[in-house]
Amino acid sequence: EKYKEPFRPQFHFSPEKKWMNDPNGMVYYKGIYHLFYQYYPDDIVWGPMHWGHATSTDLIHWTHKKIALFPDKLGMIFSGSAVVDIDNTSGLGTKENPPMIAVFTYHDMAGEKGGRTDYQTQGLSYSLDEGETWLKYEKNPIVKNSGVKDFRDPKVFWNNETKLWNMVLVAGDHAQFYTSENLINWKFESQFGENIGAHGGVWECPDIFKLKVANSNEEKWVLLISINPGAPNGGSGTQYFIGDFDGKSFKTTQKDIKWIDNGADNYAGVTYNNTPDNKRIFIGWMSNWSYARDTPTKNWRSAMTLPRELSLEKINNNYVLKNSPVEPFKKQLVSEFSKDILPIKPNQKVTFTYENFNQSEVKFKASSKNLKLVFSNEVNDSLVLNYDAVQKNFSIDRRHSGIVNFEKSFGEKIHNTKIPNITTETIDYQIVIDWSSIEIFLNGGVYSFTEQIFPSKPYTKLSIQSDEKLEIKNVTIHRIKGIW
Ligand code: FRU
Repeated sequence: EKYKEPFRPQFHFSPEKKWMNDPNGMVYYKGIYHLFYQYYPDDIVWGPMHWGHATSTDLIHWTHKKIALFPDKLGMIFSGSAVVDIDNTSGLGTKENPPMIAVFTYHDMAGEKGGRTDYQTQGLSYSLDEGETWLKYEKNPIVKNSGVKDFRDPKVFWNNETKLWNMVLVAGDHAQFYTSENLINWKFESQFGENIGAHGGVWECPDIFKLKVANSNEEKWVLLISINPGAPNGGSGTQYFIGDFDGKSFKTTQKDIKWIDNGADNYAGVTYNNTPDNKRIFIGWMSNWSYARDTPTKNWRSAMTLPRELSLEKINNNYVLKNSPVEPFKKQLVSEFSKDILPIKPNQKVTFTYENFNQSEVKFKASSKNLKLVFSNEVNDSLVLNYDAVQKNFSIDRRHSGIVNFEKSFGEKIHNTKIPNITTETIDYQIVIDWSSIEIFLNGGVYSFTEQIFPSKPYTKLSIQSDEKLEIKNVTIHRIKGIW
């Protein structure tokens, strides 16, 4: 049976078979969300990159499509983005039938092996049948390389304020901004980042967009930058900057380093172009380059995060980018258990048993006091989540969560995160588990944590305890319907 292998996610996107990494070309058009992704159709480890393709009408159920982009004489097809060229500015379609346009990075393997530094360039591909089939632009590349080794991952979008196309891409330790009238000829405008933010590794997969700040009339631009390595809990992670963008350059007064997700497994995430209602929807790759190729799955490797809606809020006089599962996710939930009030006595465990926490959502509100949650199974695998109210620290301990020995760093350390932006007296906990992943959202995504786990058997027990007296409210356990 399909999609029944051990660890196979049941409600997250994963390829039918073989290797996947970054989400690419996320664009909405005529009722359909397109998801392309870094894909190697011949093995379950990274190899010559293609763009795989899937579509969805609700961001939850996915239909696999045929491979969209294949490597050609200019190189492999690395990460990038897609737009709908509604006014046919490129001239590659017509006004009646606007082209869908993908801009991606060509990676020339021979050039790299030959010791050159200009082996990454930006290419363009277009579709005249709403994403079904793709043609390469004859005069590729559209952006040449002046000798920067890591020069990639273009995100293009229509800037409605300047009435121009924008492109942001990364060049080693910084991002570069470009403008264009036709998506083909690009003008370099500015660069950002060499002296700011985290630099533990090269910058990858940029994105930039504007959001309203909740409860105000203010609007701010958010710049996403993935880095590998250099994430707070090891390996790859995604940081963000809040600032202003005039279509040419990005400016920020931000001093601290901010991360969109504090778990170990949310990388290379970017957002959709052209979504209805101006919603800003994010999908990340639910893995980490430290061990992406070693995880104990067969037939396929890795999955995407749940699609998440992004929003901005000012907390502690500081901008915070929130992310939480998109609305249609709720339709997958089937109620299994609910309790209005659950008193917790100091040092006394409250235990829930449930046949399969590995396809479930657990939600509750708890007073902001120390709290320890342990998911476990009959073979004593245990995944421990701990909130320390005094230190304002949240930790995930997957050291004994199941199979961890496929790579050294995976189960080596407890992952700790300081969470000063939890300022409320009661905290909302939302925990979503799908066989080989856990996604935790505190206060509607003020903090999120995404991690892979490989328990030998599904978790069937959840214990809740504290060394303090507290009250837990609105506890619900939902089964999550599969999508395949
Ligand atoms: C990020 C990344 C991108 C690159 C792609 C190659 O995970 O390294 O920078 O375009 O993967 O597959």
